[in-house]
Amino acid sequence: MYNAVTSQNGNLFIEGTALESIATQFGTPSYVYSKAAISSNFLAYQTALADKEHLICYAVKANSNIAVLQTLAELGAGFDIVSSGELERVLRAGGDPSKVVFSGVAKTAVEMRRALEVGIHCFNVESEAELELLNSTAAACDLTAAVSLRVNPDVDAQTHPYISTGLKENKFGIDINLAPQVYQRAAQMSHINIVGVDCHIGSQLVDIAPFVAALERLLMLVDELAELNISLQHIDIGGGLGVRYETEEPPTPNDYMSAILPLLNGRSETLVLEPGRSITANAGVMLTQVQYLKSNGEKNFAIVDGAMNDMIRPALYQAWMDIQPVTARSAETHSYDVVGPVCETGDFLAKDRSLAISAGDYLCLFSAGAYGFVMSSNYNSRPRAPELMIDGDQVHVIRQRESLEDLLNGEQLLPVARG
Ligand code: LLP
Repeated sequence: MYNAVTSQNGNLFIEGTALESIATQFGTPSYVYSKAAISSNFLAYQTALADKEHLICYAVKANSNIAVLQTLAELGAGFDIVSSGELERVLRAGGDPSKVVFSGVAKTAVEMRRALEVGIHCFNVESEAELELLNSTAAACDLTAAVSLRVNPDVDAQTHPYISTGLKENKFGIDINLAPQVYQRAAQMSHINIVGVDCHIGSQLVDIAPFVAALERLLMLVDELAELNISLQHIDIGGGLGVRYETEEPPTPNDYMSAILPLLNGRSETLVLEPGRSITANAGVMLTQVQYLKSNGEKNFAIVDGAMNDMIRPALYQAWMDIQPVTARSAETHSYDVVGPVCETGDFLAKDRSLAISAGDYLCLFSAGAYGFVMSSNYNSRPRAPELMIDGDQVHVIRQRESLEDLLNGEQLLPVARG
């Protein structure tokens, strides 16, 4: 897939703009995305599916900035959402509600109602109880809910346990063996219209085999449903395609689709996908500045101004993410742990990295365009970083850095006690 960053003699650029100049102008920590990279990663899916009826629903959770969603909406993308908040973002970005699929294990009646009113493509229903609530909510609005059941195909995605979702032991979906019964119940509900089936077995998959295994199980279910006179309009195989963080060699969308499409030969159902990470991860970086270099005798630390509150993936999943100075330096190379200012030992961005750096240098944390800013928090009362979008020779601020004012917004002191 397209990596947004290019290196010229050790100096890093996105679309011709030096990351050093971005860091100097906009400060750090900051997120920087490439519009060309986001577009190109989306178009790779579109091209791979040129000969098949399809709907690519970008998983908004990966990076939900409205300018990112706008970029994808302009290319005709649909969206996979998991909350009303994400739905409002899609609408604000000009996304087409009739191309939205609504995933998530805990949709509320309020969320269902809003999605029904704007006319989303379908609800990916995860339990019988949810189906009942959706039916009664739709009845109360005098609308019909288009439904796909999210089934759990019990396939091992062989990824990090926190981001594996397709095993029986996970909380997601309906056991595939019980699905025919649930479909039959759904077929009898007055305000439910069955349109599809879906699954999502996990994230950061670097092997095609689990995707194929999951689809094979889904197709057995589709055939079983046909015998019960339940016909589907689409098959949604979720997201999950991995990216290169270090040395992974994930399949391209084209490799992936070349393995999937033959299984769908002769079938008329539309293929729906929900890719997130593979579209935005390598389209973005996080910039941070070295504040101090410090050694405790055994270890060298590069203390930077970006922390686990800005990018939690290393702390939460022990994720390995590449980090490099944005400008080549002649400093001596040492092995560093790159750590942030948050008061937790788990606050690190990278460990044991060989770097030639000095205090004041800017560093680029690669592959940060997905599950980066969206997972950030205000922990330690740290204002959240800005997001910038590079588009050719333009740099757009697509989210301002939070101010201390923003940080306190909405909080209230208790009334002064009267004595
Ligand atoms: N569809 C559903 C129903 C999902 O739950 C997810 C991701 C996706 C699509 C998109 O998957 P992707 O193409 O991005 O792999 N925060 C973790 C990843 C969590 C993924 C959750 N679900 C990380 O930073 O690695």
